[in-house]
Amino acid sequence: MIALITGASRGIGFETAKYFIHQTDLDVYAVSRNRQGLDRLVSACRGNDGEFRLHPVVYDLERMLTEPGEISKILPADLHHVDILINNAGFLVNKPFEQQRPEDAERMCRVNFLIPALLIKELMPVLGKKGISHIINIGSMGGYQGSIKFPGLAFYSSSKASLACLTECLSQEYKDTDMVFNCLALGSVQTEMLEEAFPGFRGGLAPGRMAEFIGNFALTGHRYFRGRILPVSSSTP
Ligand SMILES: NC(=O)c1ccc[n+]([C@@H]2O[C@H](COP(=O)([O-])OP(=O)(O)OC[C@H]3O[C@@H](n4cnc5c(N)ncnc54)[C@H](OP(=O)(O)O)[C@@H]3O)[C@@H](O)[C@H]2O)c1
Repeated sequence: MIALITGASRGIGFETAKYFIHQTDLDVYAVSRNRQGLDRLVSACRGNDGEFRLHPVVYDLERMLTEPGEISKILPADLHHVDILINNAGFLVNKPFEQQRPEDAERMCRVNFLIPALLIKELMPVLGKKGISHIINIGSMGGYQGSIKFPGLAFYSSSKASLACLTECLSQEYKDTDMVFNCLALGSVQTEMLEEAFPGFRGGLAPGRMAEFIGNFALTGHRYFRGRILPVSSSTP
């Protein structure tokens, strides 16, 4: 089986790719812009054939907006089926709404919503073609309807809410196919993103712990959930 995960150079994506390699026999395509981060992931995956099942893909996903079709050329031509797709790459700028720079606001909309949508679209030829493909969009509790909202995260949380809605839309549009879409709305996880956005904040879940949940859910969640937005937080109400 084959998994593709974006944003694997650090944080939750890094740990989830590592979890797949150490705990399953999946082949894993791990995407990020940062070769050093992916090299660290390769090192962390050594042993048990891990270094052969982990396939780093250095790619700026924002290029999908200007170079449609390019990602399919970067992935191997004999990649005929992707069983698990995890749209994990994300971008966050924590600032009061009126101080947000338009370019950051636009980037949050691109990376957190538009790119996952375009990646799903580009990968459709290899999704749900040989059995179920489980497509997981990594959302946020901030973008979960009715949750407590945090000042400074208006653009970020709204972009994640769009991603959640996209999950429901695609699930309905492709309900008669073998593509299963779900969105995990995560609470705080102690990663560089969290540390950069909220310096000094402590209390997020360890990324390895969240990776365990995401990894398990990726493998089995499609049996129980379809088109769902699931809050994954023991702290954010
Ligand atoms: N940490 C939390 O508390 C928390 C809570 C709720 C939801 N989330 C969500 O969980 C996901 C992972 O979060 P995290 O905390 O692990 O974030 P992180 O540490 O900032 O990692 C983000 C990843 O996204 C990649 N990325 C960003 N832009 C990219 C692009 N244009 N092309 C390719 N890769 C790109 C980064 O890789 P490069 O920079 O190497 O390209 C990095 O590997 C995100 O979607 C985030 O919004 C996190």
